[in-house]
Amino acid sequence: MSVKQHQVIIIGAGAAGLMCALTAGYRGRDVLLLDNAKQLGRKILISGGGRCNFTNQNIEPGAYLCSNPHFVKSALARFSQWDFIAMVERHGIDYHEKTLGQLFCDGSAKDIVDMLTTECDWAGVKIQLRTEILSVAATDDGYSLQTSEGEYRCESLVIATGGLSMPKLGATPFGFRIAEQFAIKVLPTTAGLVPFTLQPEDKARFEGLSGISLPVIAQAECGRQFREAMLFTHRGLSGPAVLQISSYWQPGQSVRFDLLPDLDFVDWCKTITAESPKLSLKNGLSRLLPKRLVERLLELGELPNKNLNQLSKADVAALDSYFHCWQIQPGGTEGYRTAEVTLGGVDTDELSSKTMEAKRHPGLYFIGEVVDVSGWLGGYNFQWAWSSGYAAGEVV
Ligand code: FDA
Repeated sequence: MSVKQHQVIIIGAGAAGLMCALTAGYRGRDVLLLDNAKQLGRKILISGGGRCNFTNQNIEPGAYLCSNPHFVKSALARFSQWDFIAMVERHGIDYHEKTLGQLFCDGSAKDIVDMLTTECDWAGVKIQLRTEILSVAATDDGYSLQTSEGEYRCESLVIATGGLSMPKLGATPFGFRIAEQFAIKVLPTTAGLVPFTLQPEDKARFEGLSGISLPVIAQAECGRQFREAMLFTHRGLSGPAVLQISSYWQPGQSVRFDLLPDLDFVDWCKTITAESPKLSLKNGLSRLLPKRLVERLLELGELPNKNLNQLSKADVAALDSYFHCWQIQPGGTEGYRTAEVTLGGVDTDELSSKTMEAKRHPGLYFIGEVVDVSGWLGGYNFQWAWSSGYAAGEVV
């Protein structure tokens, strides 16, 4: 088989790879986008419950975890949420804000994949799926790839193979292996935006509460807080508040939940006791919290089985602190199987923040989730994929 030459080869036809490909294609570069999967953009298709939370109106660098917090600034500024929204609008895709600036398609996530493939088509990008990359090597004037479809050469090679989350969707450590091959540092990886599992004792305590959701403020030991919903599951705890805080949690640490955010519990107790002195604490609390949760906490003996007018000052103070500082030490997380992102990855010290090019390997680029950049839940991770893909696409 003859060697096929392209100016730019991008490995990984996910969010970052597609954006990089179309950007480079519009600059007149001859771009080949390779993927080992049968279908491109699979994570986009299943994201946001099938509606793709494609960006967030409130994108800001502080919403990203990275060993160098300044790294994301340049790329996010040069291709912002507003640039992506403009592209979505040009394609006539209807969208809405769900909550906290999170933008979702009205129709389906397929609209975003169709938009990106249409743009790639207009930009003259060649897309080739079902291609296994067997090896990568540096040449005098670029890179050479041995693949299941023969040998390819290019001037610029972009690694956009994502992280380790959801191996069922084709996640592989390919990008980390390539980085290591070129002696580029990879920071330890772990699952982020992931449900917690509980220690056996807590699992038994909260058995039967699966499906209950309530608004909370979750706080990690580092002090980071998120005000969102928490959900009891049959394995442990999930919901947006838990997924968010999981990215800031270290094994062995506790997480504190305010189960009654904004409520002055002592005041509430005074008022409701004055109104209905003989009301049981159980029925009173069931006006504030899911009834099944209140019943379980009573069964566990964590709340006094009293009427409101029987509560002492000390009882009220203890309840106040119980609900505002409900603490759990998770047993672990559900891991990459259900995680939305991978924390850690290619060390940003090794990359240019303007172009994503490896500082010691001209022509080699890393974009998207393979890089040690992870965003909050809510469209932040796709925005990083779009922004980093664009940054590399402008220069490859
Ligand atoms: P991505 O994983 O998208 O693409 C990598 C590509 O590389 C894939 O096409 C894969 O097949 C290919 N590849 C991997 N290994 C390869 C190999 N060895 N050879 C060739 N090709 C290879 N984010 C967000 O902002 N809003 C949301 O709504 C969601 N929702 C969501 C739901 C679920 C269930 C998950 C798991 C994740 C999300 N995310 C999200 C996160 C988001 O999907 C993620 O951050 C981006 O897809 C990352 O984009 P990348 O292009 O870097 O990787």
